[in-house]
Parts: sequence; C-alpha cells; structure tokens
Amino acid sequence: MGYAIAEAAVKHGMEVVLISGPTNLRPPEGVEFVPVESTRQMYDAVAGRISGVEAAIFCAAVADYRPVRVADQKIKKTPGSNRLTLELEETEDILGSARDVMGYQGLLVGFAAETQNVAENARSKLARKKCDLIVANDVSQEGMGFDSDRNEVTVYFASGDPQPIGPATKAAIGEKLVEIVASLVQGARA
Ligand code: CTP
Repeated sequence: MGYAIAEAAVKHGMEVVLISGPTNLRPPEGVEFVPVESTRQMYDAVAGRISGVEAAIFCAAVADYRPVRVADQKIKKTPGSNRLTLELEETEDILGSARDVMGYQGLLVGFAAETQNVAENARSKLARKKCDLIVANDVSQEGMGFDSDRNEVTVYFASGDPQPIGPATKAAIGEKLVEIVASLVQGARA
C-alpha cells in the first residue's frame, strides 16, 4: 500500500520520501527511497526526516516486538526439552512517537490493520496516536490487504463521517488517499 501511495503522490506532483522495509517491489520512479531493515532503523529514518514535512503517512506493518537477545551463534537444542521460549520486548512505536517525541506538527496519517472491531479500534488508534486520519483495513478478509494487489479500507477522520474506499486495486486506493491528503494539506495552508 505504501508503494501505491508513494507512486500516486509523485503523479500528483508531491515530493516524496519512501522509507521501506524489505519487499519484492521496485521503488516508484521519482521518490527518494530509504531502505531499512528493522523497526529501530525505520524509527531513526523517520525521526531524521519528518520535521517540516506537510504530510506523513505511516502504513508499514511494523513488528510490535523483537527478541530481547539475538544469538550470535546457532542456538543448539537443549536435551530433554522439546520447547524453546523466546523473550520479546516491545519495539518503538514510530507513529505513536511522531507528535510527542519527534514534535511533528503536519498532517499525520496512520493505518490500522484489524481482524475485529475495526471501527472501534480505528477510532481509539486515531486518538491514542494523535492522527488526523486513520486508514483502517480488515485484514481477516481473504484476498485483501496483505500479499494482495487489492484492498478495501475505511478512512476515519478526527472529525466527520468515515469514508469507505474500494474494494479496488491498491493503485486506485492510493490515488484516492492522496487526493484526501492533498485537500487536507491545502486546507491547512489556507
Ligand atoms: N506502527 C508504528 N510503529 C510500530 C507499530 C505500528 O509506527 N511499532 C504504525 C503502523 O504503521 C500503523 C499504526 O501504527 O500506521 C497502527 O499499526 P497497528 O499494527 O494496526 O497497531 P499497533 O499500534 O501495533 O496496535 P495493535 O497491534 O495493538 O492493534
């Protein structure tokens, strides 16, 4: 979805920085591409570039936890035990840090991948992460969202009615989202 939005934003004449974890996609022509591999690297890349940006769109499916210890050698089996417990710690919440830690004041767009109570969870994320809008998708629907070229989303605004988009290709949804973002940025400039 991030690549589709970045491509639509370039077409719309915007200056675009695309910060992305590993994918099998080719970065769209005309973007400044910043590849990262971990949540920490994505956090640092965002923190270093977000100030002064007019709109920041967070749609990466970021890992919420990482292993506390990373083995530098192969982990050998423990004789007599058929289980292995990995201890995980929370990663940085990049979107949740944009306002309070990074001091970002532009338009803030989050995504919410949900499998249940989509509207309720989207509204609570909107408030908790201090977003202007949240794009929610129900990832329990087969053929939509992850690993698919199609998606169906609902945009929740800090004020106003939610707006459904799709089902449609991610390219079409990206274009619609860019239109919404562009009109809100124009409104903020006026
Ligand atoms: N996000 C982020 N940093 C994280 C986790 C998520 O910036 N460590 C962003 C995602 O890019 C998305 C939004 O936060 O824009 C919501 O992500 P989601 O996984 O739906 O929510 P979580 O905050 O992880 O909450 P939960 O998993 O409990 O629903």
